[in-house]
Amino acid sequence: MSVWLELCLYALGTLGHVAVCVTALNRVQGTIAEHAVERLFKKAVTLWAIVGLCLPFLEMWQSSKARTPWQIVAGQLVDVWGYYTLATAWLVMTAVRRLAQVWIDRCPNVWQMLESRLVCVESEVGVAFEDYSTRPFWFSLAGNQIGELEVNKKEIVNSALPVGLDGLKITHFSDLHITGTVPKAYFEWLCQEIQQLNSDIIFLTGDFVDNPEKLAWLVDLVSDLQAEHGNYFVLGNHDVRFGQERRLRECLTDAGWIDLGGKFVQLQIGEHELLLAGNELPWIGQAPDCHPGEHAYSICAVHTPDLLRWGKSQQYDLMLAGHAHGGQIRIPWIGPVVCPSVHGVRYASGVFQAGKTVMHVSRGISGLQPIRLRCRPELTQLILRRSAENEATAN
Ligand SMILES: [Fe+2]
Repeated sequence: MSVWLELCLYALGTLGHVAVCVTALNRVQGTIAEHAVERLFKKAVTLWAIVGLCLPFLEMWQSSKARTPWQIVAGQLVDVWGYYTLATAWLVMTAVRRLAQVWIDRCPNVWQMLESRLVCVESEVGVAFEDYSTRPFWFSLAGNQIGELEVNKKEIVNSALPVGLDGLKITHFSDLHITGTVPKAYFEWLCQEIQQLNSDIIFLTGDFVDNPEKLAWLVDLVSDLQAEHGNYFVLGNHDVRFGQERRLRECLTDAGWIDLGGKFVQLQIGEHELLLAGNELPWIGQAPDCHPGEHAYSICAVHTPDLLRWGKSQQYDLMLAGHAHGGQIRIPWIGPVVCPSVHGVRYASGVFQAGKTVMHVSRGISGLQPIRLRCRPELTQLILRRSAENEATAN
């Protein structure tokens, strides 16, 4: 075997090992509700990532034969079975499965982008990121889009939408992750944009504050937001980390927001009754005790998009989720790699459909680590539309 082939097989085996570790990391972050346990498992995965990379070098050290690490990995892939053989098989399986998911999850008849506006908040609006003293080094990485914002208007076509709700405007944003690193002026400008969208309902789907000292920022920011039919929120996994879940709920409720965590409300719009519900599982409480199928239209706010199958089983018409941040770092031609979900990167962001349930996953605004590469912060207005079949039936 030539050295080049050995090196190629070594690279393939190493990528397979990375795929195994990333899969484990995604699953751990997506399934474990207890933060301390999650941290323990994440440390175990990190340890395995290092050990796995060292295995060929350890074998070279112990082997009586003078074999290089790439000869050892290439030998495993070609001649004998070993960890690297299984890791490479996992890499191939993951790639094939991802391609299948991209194909299956296309739902062009369910939504379309009406308008997408990009604003570089730092240069165009004049919000000064560079003066911020706690700015970490990765904030300055070339291509970091944390100081930008994409304001999107998306039309959601839904066959179940009653005629009286046609054109209902919903603002959906998520994952503010206020730490103090992204300046308050950025969020103030974001709130101005939200108010200018002039939606009928506003939804905020969790992960508000990562620094308890900045809770006052959140209250200041969201207090002035108003929508004709109300502002609604659910909490996310980061909101329970600093033990002020109750205080956070009180602050938001005092600011005029309606808590949907494990609850539901019935909203009368014209002659139609709209069900709005929230589910903060697997981190907090329990699922709302309601029957979406009995209402003219139903919307459920959740934090994790992993609840899509639950939403489908409950027959919700629309679900709004965040949590995944679009993966935060997207590699050209590959897309996101790391995503805290049991489904890996499948529901990182976008519009998905399961049965009659349509789910919008926001890329969110920020992140605990303020870095976004090829994955801009996103503020979305969803405009609900009846499908053409409905119009034909009505006529
Ligand atoms: Fe988040």
